Amino acid sequence: MLSDVEDLLACPLCRGDLTAGERALRCPAGHSFDVARQGYASLLAGGAATGTADTAAMVQARAGFLDAGHYTPLASALAELASGTVLDAGAGTGHYLAAALRSGAAERGLALDLSKHAMRRAARAHPGIGAVVADLWRDLPVRDAVVDTVYDVFAPRNAPEFRRVLRPGGRLLVATPTAAHLAELVGPLGLLSVDERKDERLAETFAGTFRLESADLVTIALRLTSEEAATLVGMTPSAHHVPEGELRKRLAGLGTEIDATAQVRVAVYLPER
Ligand SMILES: C[S@@+](CC[C@H](N)C(=O)[O-])C[C@H]1O[C@@H](n2cnc3c(N)ncnc32)[C@H](O)[C@@H]1O
Ligand SMILES: [Zn+2]
Repeated sequence: MLSDVEDLLACPLCRGDLTAGERALRCPAGHSFDVARQGYASLLAGGAATGTADTAAMVQARAGFLDAGHYTPLASALAELASGTVLDAGAGTGHYLAAALRSGAAERGLALDLSKHAMRRAARAHPGIGAVVADLWRDLPVRDAVVDTVYDVFAPRNAPEFRRVLRPGGRLLVATPTAAHLAELVGPLGLLSVDERKDERLAETFAGTFRLESADLVTIALRLTSEEAATLVGMTPSAHHVPEGELRKRLAGLGTEIDATAQVRVAVYLPER
């Protein structure tokens, strides 16, 4: 709930401390941010463009797929590395935070995402989650040095802000697809393939702010129905690129049972001070 994470939050307008009431979050300077009926708040300063936020349909597709347990090995790998107060940047449905809370690795979770549809779900995913609509490309509405673990799972990365909000000794966990991720779907369906230089670009993103501590691959053998494959595609950026009808046509060509391999790199980064 928001009240569990209010001591982490900062006013996006004046950086003052925020206090959670039933209907709003307020700072001492009198700025006020409504708490939605579904339990999340929006701390977007001004009317932010929502261009890259997941739509209601994308969030629903993601929730269905993740709830079916296909990515449980990834959730477990992340939870094993998590501790204390966990901020999930681009949290989506709150799936990975909820898993870390259920396992006991995390004590509480702050979900941030630009999509209000996602935050609506994250607010319900576990009682230990506070969900806040925020833009990762701006200053985060979070106080300095208050979180133990930052998650970034397939989401935009703001290295200076991630470092600012981490406590000394805290760690950043970054999950990114490898070039082999869903290769069995990417080719035949004409999806966007992962940039071969992704690891290099990631290193550039964090140069000077974080250093790589370790990295492991999580490889998951998936057996998907045509419907599940469609759902999985709906979760990726490719959802914007291949028209629905065309996708169904190409999927039909793959048969009724589709074997695919998910491969995700989970990297641990420590802040450079
Ligand atoms: C590929 S999804 C990953 C979601 C979640 N981490 C998961 O793996 O299930 C990317 C997420 O980033 C969010 N997002 C995109 N741009 C954003 C931004 N500028 N600020 C915050 N969230 C953003 C989207 O709304 C979406 O929920
Ligand atoms: Zn304020």
